[in-house]
Amino acid sequence: MSKRPLNVGLIGGGKGAFIVHPHEKAIHFDGTRRVVTGALHQDPKTAMEEAEKWPYPIRGYRSYDEMIATEKKKPLGERMDYVLIVTPNHVHFDPAMKCIEAGIPVFCEKPLTVTLEEADKLVAAVKKHKVPFGVAHTYLGHWTSRLSRHIVKSGLIGEVRWVDSCYLQGWLWSRTEDMGVMQAEWRVDPKRAGASGAGGDIGTHALMQLRYVTGLDVTRLQAHLIAFVERRQLDDHFTVYCELSNGGKALVRASQIAIGHKNDLRLEVNGSKGTLYWVQEEPEKVVIHLAGQPDRVYWRGEVKANDGFLGDLPAELMGEPTVPSGHPEGFHDAFARLHRCFEADVRAYEEKKPWNADGSKYANVWDGRIGIALCTAAVESSNQGGAWVDMP
Ligand SMILES: NC(=O)c1ccc[n+]([C@@H]2O[C@H](COP(=O)([O-])OP(=O)(O)OC[C@H]3O[C@@H](n4cnc5c(N)ncnc54)[C@H](O)[C@@H]3O)[C@@H](O)[C@H]2O)c1
Repeated sequence: MSKRPLNVGLIGGGKGAFIVHPHEKAIHFDGTRRVVTGALHQDPKTAMEEAEKWPYPIRGYRSYDEMIATEKKKPLGERMDYVLIVTPNHVHFDPAMKCIEAGIPVFCEKPLTVTLEEADKLVAAVKKHKVPFGVAHTYLGHWTSRLSRHIVKSGLIGEVRWVDSCYLQGWLWSRTEDMGVMQAEWRVDPKRAGASGAGGDIGTHALMQLRYVTGLDVTRLQAHLIAFVERRQLDDHFTVYCELSNGGKALVRASQIAIGHKNDLRLEVNGSKGTLYWVQEEPEKVVIHLAGQPDRVYWRGEVKANDGFLGDLPAELMGEPTVPSGHPEGFHDAFARLHRCFEADVRAYEEKKPWNADGSKYANVWDGRIGIALCTAAVESSNQGGAWVDMP
Protein backbone atom coordinates (compact mmCIF):
# COMPACT_ATOMS: atom_id res chain seq x y z
CA MET A 1 0.00 0.00 0.00
CA SER A 2 1.34 3.42 -0.82
CA LYS A 3 2.27 5.67 2.08
CA ARG A 4 0.26 8.70 3.03
CA PRO A 5 1.87 11.91 1.79
CA LEU A 6 3.70 13.92 4.43
CA ASN A 7 2.01 17.16 5.45
CA VAL A 8 4.14 20.27 5.17
CA GLY A 9 3.49 23.61 6.88
CA LEU A 10 4.84 26.91 5.58
CA ILE A 11 6.12 29.79 7.68
CA GLY A 12 6.31 32.78 5.35
CA GLY A 13 5.56 32.71 1.66
CA GLY A 14 2.62 35.06 1.18
CA LYS A 15 2.24 38.31 -0.70
CA GLY A 16 4.90 38.39 -3.39
CA ALA A 17 7.41 36.14 -1.62
CA PHE A 18 10.07 34.45 -3.70
CA ILE A 19 11.69 31.26 -2.47
CA VAL A 20 8.52 29.63 -1.20
CA HIS A 21 7.52 28.89 -4.80
CA PRO A 22 10.49 26.71 -5.85
CA HIS A 23 10.12 24.92 -2.51
CA GLU A 24 6.41 24.42 -3.08
CA LYS A 25 7.07 22.76 -6.43
CA ALA A 26 9.82 20.63 -4.90
CA ILE A 27 7.56 19.53 -2.04
CA HIS A 28 4.99 18.27 -4.55
CA PHE A 29 7.58 16.79 -6.93
CA ASP A 30 7.21 13.13 -5.94
CA GLY A 31 3.59 13.03 -4.79
CA THR A 32 4.78 11.92 -1.36
CA ARG A 33 4.68 15.37 0.27
CA ARG A 34 2.16 18.17 0.10
CA VAL A 35 1.61 21.62 1.55
CA VAL A 36 -1.40 21.56 3.92
CA THR A 37 -1.02 24.60 6.12
CA GLY A 38 0.71 27.93 6.49
CA ALA A 39 1.31 31.07 8.50
CA LEU A 40 2.14 33.02 5.39
CA HIS A 41 2.64 36.60 6.52
CA GLN A 42 3.69 38.66 9.54
CA ASP A 43 0.38 40.54 9.59
CA PRO A 44 -2.36 38.20 10.95
CA LYS A 45 -5.11 39.47 8.64
CA THR A 46 -2.90 39.30 5.55
CA ALA A 47 -1.73 35.83 6.61
CA MET A 48 -5.34 34.58 6.51
CA GLU A 49 -6.09 36.36 3.23
CA GLU A 50 -3.00 34.87 1.62
CA ALA A 51 -4.00 31.39 2.81
CA GLU A 52 -7.44 31.91 1.25
CA LYS A 53 -5.77 32.86 -2.04
CA TRP A 54 -3.42 29.85 -2.07
CA PRO A 55 -3.99 27.90 -5.32
CA TYR A 56 -5.43 24.89 -3.42
CA PRO A 57 -7.06 24.67 0.01
CA ILE A 58 -4.71 24.95 3.00
CA ARG A 59 -5.31 25.62 6.72
CA GLY A 60 -4.34 29.22 7.25
CA TYR A 61 -3.05 30.54 10.56
CA ARG A 62 -2.80 34.11 11.80
CA SER A 63 0.76 33.56 13.07
CA TYR A 64 3.38 30.85 13.32
CA ASP A 65 2.84 30.77 17.10
CA GLU A 66 -0.79 29.84 16.54
CA MET A 67 0.18 27.33 13.85
CA ILE A 68 2.77 25.53 16.01
CA ALA A 69 0.52 25.47 19.10
CA THR A 70 -2.46 24.10 17.16
CA GLU A 71 -0.67 21.68 14.85
CA LYS A 72 1.31 19.95 17.59
CA LYS A 73 -1.94 18.89 19.27
CA LYS A 74 -3.33 17.20 16.15
CA PRO A 75 -2.88 13.42 15.71
CA LEU A 76 -0.13 12.12 13.44
CA GLY A 77 -1.48 11.98 9.91
CA GLU A 78 -3.47 15.16 10.40
CA ARG A 79 -0.83 17.49 11.76
CA MET A 80 2.03 18.91 9.78
CA ASP A 81 4.88 16.41 9.61
CA TYR A 82 7.47 19.10 9.00
CA VAL A 83 7.69 22.82 8.68
CA LEU A 84 9.40 24.88 6.00
CA ILE A 85 10.70 28.27 7.13
CA VAL A 86 10.93 30.73 4.23
CA THR A 87 10.94 34.05 6.09
CA PRO A 88 13.69 36.69 6.05
CA ASN A 89 16.75 35.72 8.08
CA HIS A 90 15.75 37.41 11.36
CA VAL A 91 12.57 35.26 11.46
CA HIS A 92 14.34 31.90 11.31
CA PHE A 93 15.48 31.44 14.90
CA ASP A 94 12.26 31.94 16.83
CA PRO A 95 9.94 29.68 14.79
CA ALA A 96 12.71 27.08 14.36
CA MET A 97 13.31 26.91 18.11
CA LYS A 98 9.58 26.68 18.85
CA CYS A 99 9.14 23.85 16.34
CA ILE A 100 12.13 21.92 17.69
CA GLU A 101 10.76 22.22 21.22
CA ALA A 102 7.38 20.99 19.96
CA GLY A 103 9.07 17.99 18.30
CA ILE A 104 8.24 19.21 14.78
CA PRO A 105 11.00 18.62 12.16
CA VAL A 106 12.27 21.81 10.51
CA PHE A 107 13.52 22.56 7.03
CA CYS A 108 14.87 26.10 7.32
CA GLU A 109 16.16 28.56 4.77
CA LYS A 110 19.74 29.79 4.92
CA PRO A 111 21.48 31.62 6.45
CA LEU A 112 20.45 29.73 9.56
CA THR A 113 20.17 32.75 11.89
CA VAL A 114 21.38 36.33 12.19
CA THR A 115 23.81 35.68 15.08
CA LEU A 116 26.20 32.90 16.05
CA GLU A 117 24.65 32.80 19.51
CA GLU A 118 21.26 31.91 18.00
CA ALA A 119 22.87 29.31 15.72
CA ASP A 120 24.55 27.68 18.72
CA LYS A 121 21.22 27.55 20.54
CA LEU A 122 19.60 25.78 17.60
CA VAL A 123 22.44 23.25 17.42
CA ALA A 124 22.00 22.52 21.13
CA ALA A 125 18.22 22.27 20.83
CA VAL A 126 18.42 19.83 17.89
CA LYS A 127 20.84 17.69 19.88
CA LYS A 128 18.59 17.74 22.94
CA HIS A 129 15.24 17.13 21.24
CA LYS A 130 16.61 14.87 18.48
CA VAL A 131 14.44 16.36 15.75
CA PRO A 132 15.37 16.26 12.02
CA PHE A 133 16.61 19.68 10.90
CA GLY A 134 17.64 20.62 7.38
CA VAL A 135 19.04 23.85 5.97
CA ALA A 136 18.12 24.78 2.40
CA HIS A 137 21.52 24.89 0.74
CA THR A 138 19.87 24.26 -2.59
CA TYR A 139 22.87 23.43 -4.73
CA LEU A 140 23.87 20.32 -2.77
CA GLY A 141 20.73 18.83 -4.30
CA HIS A 142 22.17 18.76 -7.83
CA TRP A 143 23.07 15.23 -8.86
CA THR A 144 26.37 16.63 -10.10
CA SER A 145 27.18 18.04 -6.64
CA ARG A 146 26.88 14.52 -5.28
CA LEU A 147 29.02 13.13 -8.08
CA SER A 148 31.61 15.86 -7.42
CA ARG A 149 31.69 14.98 -3.74
CA HIS A 150 32.19 11.32 -4.59
CA ILE A 151 34.97 12.10 -7.09
CA VAL A 152 36.96 14.24 -4.63
CA LYS A 153 36.46 11.67 -1.86
CA SER A 154 37.64 8.86 -4.16
CA GLY A 155 41.05 10.54 -4.46
CA LEU A 156 40.86 10.85 -8.26
CA ILE A 157 42.16 14.43 -8.24
CA GLY A 158 44.54 13.76 -5.34
CA GLU A 159 44.97 15.83 -2.21
CA VAL A 160 43.06 19.11 -2.28
CA ARG A 161 45.45 22.05 -2.54
CA TRP A 162 43.35 25.03 -3.54
CA VAL A 163 39.62 25.72 -3.81
CA ASP A 164 38.03 28.73 -5.47
CA SER A 165 34.35 28.91 -4.59
CA CYS A 166 32.42 31.98 -5.60
CA TYR A 167 28.83 33.12 -5.97
CA LEU A 168 28.42 36.24 -8.09
CA GLN A 169 25.26 38.25 -8.70
CA GLY A 170 24.62 41.73 -10.06
CA TRP A 171 21.10 42.59 -8.91
CA LEU A 172 22.19 44.85 -6.00
CA TRP A 173 24.57 46.92 -8.18
CA SER A 174 22.67 50.12 -7.30
CA ARG A 175 20.15 51.07 -4.61
CA THR A 176 17.70 48.31 -5.52
CA GLU A 177 16.46 48.58 -1.92
CA ASP A 178 14.89 51.99 -2.76
CA MET A 179 12.95 50.64 -5.73
CA GLY A 180 10.21 48.81 -3.84
CA VAL A 181 11.88 45.39 -4.16
CA MET A 182 10.96 43.69 -0.87
CA GLN A 183 13.66 41.03 -1.30
CA ALA A 184 16.30 43.78 -1.47
CA GLU A 185 14.93 45.84 1.45
CA TRP A 186 15.51 43.31 4.18
CA ARG A 187 18.73 41.92 2.64
CA VAL A 188 20.59 45.22 3.19
CA ASP A 189 19.30 45.75 6.75
CA PRO A 190 21.68 44.36 9.42
CA LYS A 191 18.79 43.73 11.83
CA ARG A 192 16.95 41.53 9.35
CA ALA A 193 19.81 40.06 7.29
CA GLY A 194 22.62 39.58 9.86
CA ALA A 195 26.17 40.86 10.21
CA SER A 196 27.14 40.24 6.58
CA GLY A 197 25.04 41.04 3.51
CA ALA A 198 26.45 39.27 0.45
CA GLY A 199 28.33 36.85 2.72
CA GLY A 200 25.23 35.70 4.56
CA ASP A 201 22.99 35.67 1.54
CA ILE A 202 25.16 33.85 -0.98
CA GLY A 203 28.66 33.47 0.53
CA THR A 204 27.15 30.81 2.78
CA HIS A 205 26.16 28.86 -0.36
CA ALA A 206 29.72 29.14 -1.72
CA LEU A 207 31.13 27.92 1.60
CA MET A 208 28.65 25.04 1.80
CA GLN A 209 29.44 23.93 -1.76
CA LEU A 210 33.15 23.91 -0.89
CA ARG A 211 32.61 21.96 2.33
CA TYR A 212 30.17 19.50 0.77
CA VAL A 213 32.29 18.65 -2.25
CA THR A 214 35.70 18.54 -0.53
CA GLY A 215 34.69 17.34 2.95
CA LEU A 216 37.06 20.01 4.31
CA ASP A 217 36.44 22.78 6.82
CA VAL A 218 37.73 26.32 7.07
CA THR A 219 40.00 26.69 10.10
CA ARG A 220 40.96 30.39 9.88
CA LEU A 221 40.53 33.26 7.51
CA GLN A 222 41.33 36.77 6.38
CA ALA A 223 38.47 38.83 4.96
CA HIS A 224 37.71 42.05 3.15
CA LEU A 225 34.05 43.07 3.13
CA ILE A 226 33.03 46.11 1.10
CA ALA A 227 29.78 48.03 0.60
CA PHE A 228 30.29 49.57 -2.83
CA VAL A 229 26.82 51.08 -3.10
CA GLU A 230 26.39 54.36 -1.27
CA ARG A 231 24.64 54.42 2.12
CA ARG A 232 24.56 50.63 2.27
CA GLN A 233 25.29 49.30 5.76
CA LEU A 234 26.15 45.73 4.78
CA ASP A 235 28.76 44.33 2.41
CA ASP A 236 27.70 43.80 -1.17
CA HIS A 237 31.14 42.34 -1.96
CA PHE A 238 32.65 39.62 0.25
CA THR A 239 36.15 38.17 -0.20
CA VAL A 240 37.55 35.61 2.21
CA TYR A 241 40.92 33.88 2.03
CA CYS A 242 40.78 30.65 4.00
CA GLU A 243 42.98 27.96 5.46
CA LEU A 244 41.45 24.51 5.19
CA SER A 245 41.49 21.64 7.64
CA ASN A 246 43.94 19.62 5.47
CA GLY A 247 46.38 22.56 5.21
CA GLY A 248 45.07 23.56 1.76
CA LYS A 249 43.91 27.08 0.96
CA ALA A 250 40.72 28.52 -0.48
CA LEU A 251 38.99 31.62 -1.63
CA VAL A 252 35.30 32.03 -0.72
CA ARG A 253 33.82 34.99 -2.57
CA ALA A 254 30.39 36.51 -2.95
CA SER A 255 29.34 39.62 -4.80
CA GLN A 256 26.00 41.23 -5.53
CA ILE A 257 27.37 44.16 -7.53
CA ALA A 258 28.93 42.01 -10.29
CA ILE A 259 26.80 43.36 -13.14
CA GLY A 260 25.96 40.65 -15.67
CA HIS A 261 26.27 37.79 -13.22
CA LYS A 262 22.97 36.16 -12.29
CA ASN A 263 23.36 33.13 -10.05
CA ASP A 264 26.94 32.41 -10.91
CA LEU A 265 27.96 29.91 -8.25
CA ARG A 266 31.08 28.09 -9.38
CA LEU A 267 33.52 25.77 -7.69
CA GLU A 268 37.03 24.84 -8.76
CA VAL A 269 39.01 22.29 -6.78
CA ASN A 270 42.70 21.92 -7.61
CA GLY A 271 44.14 18.68 -6.29
CA SER A 272 47.65 17.23 -6.46
CA LYS A 273 46.65 15.09 -9.49
CA GLY A 274 43.88 17.04 -11.16
CA THR A 275 41.12 19.63 -11.11
CA LEU A 276 37.35 19.41 -10.70
CA TYR A 277 35.19 22.21 -12.03
CA TRP A 278 31.43 22.76 -11.54
CA VAL A 279 29.16 25.66 -12.43
CA GLN A 280 25.63 26.10 -11.06
CA GLU A 281 24.25 27.78 -14.17
CA GLU A 282 25.24 24.64 -16.14
CA PRO A 283 24.47 22.10 -13.43
CA GLU A 284 24.30 19.07 -15.67
CA LYS A 285 28.03 18.51 -15.92
CA VAL A 286 31.22 18.06 -13.97
CA VAL A 287 34.52 18.79 -15.70
CA ILE A 288 37.62 16.84 -14.70
CA HIS A 289 41.16 17.64 -15.82
CA LEU A 290 43.82 15.12 -14.84
CA ALA A 291 47.44 16.12 -15.38
CA GLY A 292 48.67 14.92 -18.77
CA GLN A 293 45.29 13.52 -19.85
CA PRO A 294 42.51 14.79 -22.09
CA ASP A 295 39.80 16.83 -20.39
CA ARG A 296 36.70 14.88 -19.40
CA VAL A 297 33.16 16.16 -19.13
CA TYR A 298 30.72 14.00 -17.17
CA TRP A 299 27.07 14.70 -17.98
CA ARG A 300 24.34 13.67 -15.57
CA GLY A 301 22.57 10.68 -17.02
CA GLU A 302 25.65 9.43 -18.91
CA VAL A 303 27.84 8.49 -15.98
CA LYS A 304 28.69 4.82 -15.61
CA ALA A 305 30.64 3.07 -12.88
CA ASN A 306 33.99 1.50 -13.78
CA ASP A 307 34.25 3.23 -17.15
CA GLY A 308 38.03 2.89 -17.02
CA PHE A 309 38.32 6.22 -15.25
CA LEU A 310 35.75 6.46 -12.48
CA GLY A 311 35.77 3.47 -10.19
CA ASP A 312 32.75 2.08 -8.40
CA LEU A 313 29.98 4.58 -7.83
CA PRO A 314 27.70 4.50 -4.80
CA ALA A 315 24.48 2.60 -5.48
CA GLU A 316 22.40 5.34 -3.90
CA LEU A 317 23.94 7.95 -6.21
CA MET A 318 23.21 5.80 -9.26
CA GLY A 319 19.74 4.98 -7.94
CA GLU A 320 18.67 8.63 -7.57
CA PRO A 321 15.64 9.30 -9.74
CA THR A 322 16.68 11.49 -12.67
CA VAL A 323 15.44 12.10 -16.19
CA PRO A 324 17.48 10.79 -19.17
CA SER A 325 20.46 12.91 -20.18
CA GLY A 326 19.64 15.75 -22.54
CA HIS A 327 16.44 16.59 -20.69
CA PRO A 328 17.84 19.28 -18.42
CA GLU A 329 17.51 19.11 -14.65
CA GLY A 330 17.83 22.32 -12.69
CA PHE A 331 16.95 24.38 -9.65
CA HIS A 332 13.59 22.71 -8.87
CA ASP A 333 15.10 19.24 -9.22
CA ALA A 334 17.85 20.18 -6.76
CA PHE A 335 15.32 21.44 -4.24
CA ALA A 336 13.21 18.30 -4.75
CA ARG A 337 16.20 16.07 -4.03
CA LEU A 338 16.74 17.86 -0.70
CA HIS A 339 13.07 17.53 0.29
CA ARG A 340 13.05 13.87 -0.80
CA CYS A 341 16.00 13.09 1.47
CA PHE A 342 14.55 15.13 4.30
CA GLU A 343 11.26 13.26 3.91
CA ALA A 344 13.08 9.96 4.46
CA ASP A 345 14.47 11.23 7.77
CA VAL A 346 11.11 12.63 8.87
CA ARG A 347 9.40 9.29 8.13
CA ALA A 348 12.09 7.40 10.08
CA TYR A 349 11.74 9.87 12.98
CA GLU A 350 7.98 9.36 13.09
CA GLU A 351 8.38 5.58 12.93
CA LYS A 352 10.98 5.80 15.71
CA LYS A 353 13.58 4.24 13.41
CA PRO A 354 17.18 5.45 13.16
CA TRP A 355 17.81 8.47 10.96
CA ASN A 356 20.98 10.37 10.39
CA ALA A 357 21.13 13.97 9.26
CA ASP A 358 24.87 13.64 8.67
CA GLY A 359 25.04 16.34 6.00
CA SER A 360 25.62 13.87 3.16
CA LYS A 361 22.20 14.46 1.58
CA TYR A 362 21.21 17.92 2.77
CA ALA A 363 22.84 20.53 4.96
CA ASN A 364 22.09 20.03 8.65
CA VAL A 365 21.90 22.44 11.58
CA TRP A 366 25.66 22.23 12.17
CA ASP A 367 26.32 23.14 8.52
CA GLY A 368 24.00 26.10 8.96
CA ARG A 369 25.90 27.12 12.08
CA ILE A 370 29.22 27.00 10.21
CA GLY A 371 27.82 29.44 7.63
CA ILE A 372 27.07 31.90 10.43
CA ALA A 373 30.50 31.28 11.95
CA LEU A 374 32.13 32.19 8.61
CA CYS A 375 30.18 35.46 8.43
CA THR A 376 30.98 36.30 12.07
CA ALA A 377 34.70 35.67 11.62
CA ALA A 378 34.78 37.48 8.26
CA VAL A 379 33.21 40.62 9.74
CA GLU A 380 35.71 40.53 12.61
CA SER A 381 38.67 40.08 10.27
CA SER A 382 37.50 42.77 7.88
CA ASN A 383 36.99 45.23 10.76
CA GLN A 384 40.64 44.58 11.68
CA GLY A 385 41.88 45.32 8.16
CA GLY A 386 42.00 41.70 7.05
CA ALA A 387 43.69 40.18 10.13
CA TRP A 388 43.81 36.41 10.57
CA VAL A 389 40.84 35.19 12.62
CA ASP A 390 40.15 31.61 13.75
CA MET A 391 36.79 30.14 12.80
CA PRO A 392 34.66 30.29 15.95
N1 LIG B 1 18.14 28.54 -0.84
C1 LIG B 1 18.11 29.51 -1.73
O1 LIG B 1 18.58 29.33 -2.83
C2 LIG B 1 17.47 30.82 -1.37
C3 LIG B 1 17.09 31.72 -2.37
C4 LIG B 1 16.43 32.88 -1.99
C5 LIG B 1 16.18 33.15 -0.65
N2 LIG B 1 16.58 32.28 0.30
C6 LIG B 1 16.33 32.54 1.73
O2 LIG B 1 14.93 32.36 1.96
C7 LIG B 1 14.46 33.29 2.91
C8 LIG B 1 13.32 34.11 2.29
O3 LIG B 1 13.84 34.81 1.18
P1 LIG B 1 12.84 35.39 0.04
O4 LIG B 1 13.72 36.00 -0.97
O5 LIG B 1 11.86 34.38 -0.36
O6 LIG B 1 12.14 36.54 0.91
P2 LIG B 1 10.78 37.28 0.58
O7 LIG B 1 10.93 38.65 1.15
O8 LIG B 1 10.42 37.12 -0.84
O9 LIG B 1 9.68 36.46 1.43
C9 LIG B 1 9.66 36.45 2.84
C10 LIG B 1 8.30 36.00 3.29
O10 LIG B 1 8.28 35.87 4.71
C11 LIG B 1 7.08 36.49 5.21
N3 LIG B 1 7.26 36.82 6.63
C12 LIG B 1 8.08 37.74 7.20
N4 LIG B 1 7.94 37.73 8.55
C13 LIG B 1 7.01 36.77 8.82
C14 LIG B 1 6.43 36.26 10.03
N5 LIG B 1 6.75 36.77 11.22
N6 LIG B 1 5.52 35.28 9.93
C15 LIG B 1 5.16 34.76 8.74
N7 LIG B 1 5.67 35.20 7.56
C16 LIG B 1 6.58 36.20 7.61
C17 LIG B 1 6.89 37.67 4.28
O11 LIG B 1 5.57 38.19 4.35
C18 LIG B 1 7.17 36.98 2.95
O12 LIG B 1 6.03 36.22 2.56
C19 LIG B 1 15.66 34.11 3.33
O13 LIG B 1 16.21 33.61 4.50
C20 LIG B 1 16.64 33.94 2.18
O14 LIG B 1 17.99 34.07 2.56
C21 LIG B 1 17.22 31.13 -0.04
